[in-house]
Amino acid sequence: MTMTRRDALAGSLLAATALVGVAPASAAAANSVGSETLPPPTHTAAEAGTASPTPAAEPVCLTDFEPLAQAKMSHLAWEYVNSAAADENTVRWNREAYQKIRIKPRILVGVDQLDTRVTLFGHEHAFPILLAPTAEQELTHPEGELATARGANAAETSFVLSSFSTKSIEDVAAVAKLPFWFQLYAQSDHEFTRHLVERAQAAGAKALCLTVDTPVAGARNREERIHFALPPGLTLPNLSGYKALGADNSGAHRPTGRDIFSKTLDAALSWKDVEWLRSFAKIPLLLKGVLNPDDAERAVQAGVAGLIVSNHGGRNLDTVPATIDALPLVAERVAGRIPVLCDGGIRRGTDVLKALALGANAVLIGRPYVYGLAVGGEAGVAKVLTILQREFQQAMALTGRTKVSEIDKSVIWG
Ligand code: FNR
Ligand code: LAC
Repeated sequence: MTMTRRDALAGSLLAATALVGVAPASAAAANSVGSETLPPPTHTAAEAGTASPTPAAEPVCLTDFEPLAQAKMSHLAWEYVNSAAADENTVRWNREAYQKIRIKPRILVGVDQLDTRVTLFGHEHAFPILLAPTAEQELTHPEGELATARGANAAETSFVLSSFSTKSIEDVAAVAKLPFWFQLYAQSDHEFTRHLVERAQAAGAKALCLTVDTPVAGARNREERIHFALPPGLTLPNLSGYKALGADNSGAHRPTGRDIFSKTLDAALSWKDVEWLRSFAKIPLLLKGVLNPDDAERAVQAGVAGLIVSNHGGRNLDTVPATIDALPLVAERVAGRIPVLCDGGIRRGTDVLKALALGANAVLIGRPYVYGLAVGGEAGVAKVLTILQREFQQAMALTGRTKVSEIDKSVIWG
């Protein structure tokens, strides 16, 4: 079957999108990845005998977006998005750990029909890939989370909206065409937290991801060095009216520095709050930021609906392990009782394959789509996703897996 160009993608990125043979996600999910869909051959720098790859005018893989994004982003936005905690070991390990895992291919299976769909909490997803919550997206693009939601629509992907979004839950929900989830930064003011959860539910969020790895902020040295502050004009509308932020968070008294972060975390967050949230939340509750298998066991006992194995993209506690190293231990302990998702360092379709092989039901990406947002707004977000989706299809085909349920530990070499 011929893969068609996605109509929703527009602008200068379109030509490059066509080059990589992007299919509408629904067609891609259930149908072929035949040879006519492969990109035309390109001459790599390695073939040409040069030392480093030719800089990409049009991105063809996720990391190609990084220099393009840096060139477009303000220094403040780049430092905020790109940075991680302390000496930035964990953020590096997140990538390196994927690169060290070897894949075991399988031949002559017949991979003309691929099914990349997964079902999570009663909803079918075209691919086992979602957008992780990332705060303050108007720093990166004037349309912020609205552009991300539109790009996710175009790639038939669900996103998780951050509590700290620069567009309101209601405005983003109005744009979303697929199920979206809400990331919760629980506040010490329970009344306000309950109100936030109820807003997300009323707007149509289909799951709640309670971030549990950030009771306090980590050592964000790069943010400190640039005296990170939310620029004038940017607000966090989901926190509008929150007393801890002062009279309001949109006028002259709006805190502008990292104090907005320190005033909007709950250092007292505990298992009691998980129980409390479960007592009234009408949508599945996931914990985001689990690494320790003992915590995973406790979470299952506490009745949560799912876990996200995450180290917050290395932004909180430096020298915790790469998430792909923690994932198998967590997945083994959970033993299929609830879905386990994973994020951190995923930049290639083979990374998605490896995460699924090692126990994830789905993965999320963070920085790559923010870079896509910087480079091309909604089309940039869509392009990041379609490249990753296509690479994932290639990884499935080249390992002889025709459906997601066939991706297990036997895909890993040794
Ligand atoms: C994040 N992350 C995050 N997590 C969360 O629970 N709430 C949030 O508001 C944010 N905000 C945020 C902003 C930015 C700029 C980044 C880069 C990350 C963490 C995010 O959800 C995810 O765990 C990581 O980004 C995954 O790692 P990669 O894909 O960026 O390597
Ligand atoms: C961050 C927060 C907001 O990682 O989660 O910047």
